[in-house]
Amino acid sequence: MKYFITFEGIEGCGKTTQISFLKDFLKKKNRSVITTREPGGTKIGDKIRRILLDSENTDIDIKTELLLYQASRAQHVKDVIRPALEQGCVVLCDRFTDATSVYQGFVQGISEDFLERLNRFTTDNLTPNLTVLIDCPVEIGLKRTEDRMKTTNQEVCENRFEEKSVEFHQMVRLGYLQIAEHNSNRFHIVDGREDISAVHREIRTAVIKKMAG
Ligand code: TMP
Repeated sequence: MKYFITFEGIEGCGKTTQISFLKDFLKKKNRSVITTREPGGTKIGDKIRRILLDSENTDIDIKTELLLYQASRAQHVKDVIRPALEQGCVVLCDRFTDATSVYQGFVQGISEDFLERLNRFTTDNLTPNLTVLIDCPVEIGLKRTEDRMKTTNQEVCENRFEEKSVEFHQMVRLGYLQIAEHNSNRFHIVDGREDISAVHREIRTAVIKKMAG
């Protein structure tokens, strides 16, 4: 059985922290685990990520943007995700195809059917077994992102999305909730307003249940 678990949500919802907690938990249970992210996850993908998230690239065309996400994903699936799944690793991935459906589809208007076909082409039909959506109000997410930016200058120029309007992030949140509703077998929605350990416990329970079933 393959375990491919993806994490989605608005900026600042807490994906990175929760992925790291879940990784530690699964490792303690003697599971082999890898964590990865999109865009990125490979050497080529990381270069593409820098182009995509560079705050100077405000004039990027939506088609260019979409194809760069897909280019990063194709490399990622082939070089990292599939090989890890084939070796029996649990793969925890920070964003995947649902992010495209929300950001490029729901928010920016690219056709849902077209994106579905493109995602299937790029991933050779790879679908996550479980997608954890950490849902939280935009004000909370953006405040956390702002605080993180103040304490770390690690990805200082990777803020093209954080600079978008509140309305943009609200649309993203709405898009995720809609996709989750339409794919309720695969999605598990967690309330991201809860404290970090409560969110972790809920994710842990959902993962254990999925693995048992
Ligand atoms: P993050 O690593 O901080 O989550 O940032 C990645 C950004 O890229 C985030 O704002 C969502 C965006 N994104 C898309 O627009 N489409 C995609 O397909 C993916 C994977 C991410």
